[in-house]
Amino acid sequence: MADPSLYDALRIPSETLIALDNRTYHFAVQPYHYLIRMSHIVSAAAFFGGIVLFDLRLAGISSHTRLKALAADILPWLYITFGLAMMSGILLFFYDPVHAGSRAYFMPKMILIVLALINTLIYRRLAFGYALKEPPATPPSARWAAALSASGFLLAAQLVPARRTNPPSLGALPAPPEVAATLKRACYDCHSNETRWPWYSRVAPLSSFIVHDVRLGRKEVNFSEWGSYPATRRRKLEWIGRSLHEEKMPPWSYRLMHPGARLSEADQATLERWIDSALTTSSAGGSNE
Ligand code: HEC
Repeated sequence: MADPSLYDALRIPSETLIALDNRTYHFAVQPYHYLIRMSHIVSAAAFFGGIVLFDLRLAGISSHTRLKALAADILPWLYITFGLAMMSGILLFFYDPVHAGSRAYFMPKMILIVLALINTLIYRRLAFGYALKEPPATPPSARWAAALSASGFLLAAQLVPARRTNPPSLGALPAPPEVAATLKRACYDCHSNETRWPWYSRVAPLSSFIVHDVRLGRKEVNFSEWGSYPATRRRKLEWIGRSLHEEKMPPWSYRLMHPGARLSEADQATLERWIDSALTTSSAGGSNE
């Protein structure tokens, strides 16, 4: 859902960002900017935490807690943390407008803030007043507003860009066709630059997990970069043999979503035979040179 290029049209023009850059302020703030950044992150996290607590209570969890008391505790907290997050955010923006304003996550954040303000309006209308009158049961409208607010976090997460990339190949693996086909079917989604990204890899928070898995997988073994491995091919082949032998790969979560990627005993035997012959004959990419 969130390709960084989606936000390009909304971005602040770089001339404006450059014009906003004030080096006097930048150098004055420089010694403290880590402190500001930290208070930005901590206050934003504390703010969201407070809201979720409130949502959960309104949705009916821990309903023995008195709402009025909870509101009295949480509201000042929400105002303070929101104020801190906004103030530190503005300070950080002007500390380095060119950098902050052109970052991939800047526009999603701005959209989030607008959505959150709309959420606040809905919350006030539907939930807050009624809930604080402490009727015998939480009114349904309050439950709705709480559910909307809580699911807003999931929706909002969709705005966070996850980088799904397929860089060009740097020398594909030389392997007999049946071996290549099996590897393509069972391993290439995480161990090559030819990942077939499934639709749910666009849905946060799954997207972050999948992108992370592919990045890790490519780092360990990348069949599209086999040509750049001359010194470590042998080691990688041995790893592959071991991972197959221990039935560690493909990971169970992947097998669950891709039943077709399971390796039959015949597939396994074919791969193992290929690894053995590559290791002994120093061919098929098994060479150490
Ligand atoms: C869903 C993504 C995914 C698929 C599909 C997948 N892997 Fe992996 N693989 C990973 C990740 C993530 C790592 C790094 C983390 C780890 O070692 O567990 C990894 C690590 C490895 C390693 C190095 C670590 C070790 O155990 O030696 C090998 C070898 C490997 N995979 C082989 C394969 C083979 C062969 C296949 C196909 C039969 C395959 N993988 C399919 C995600 C995947």
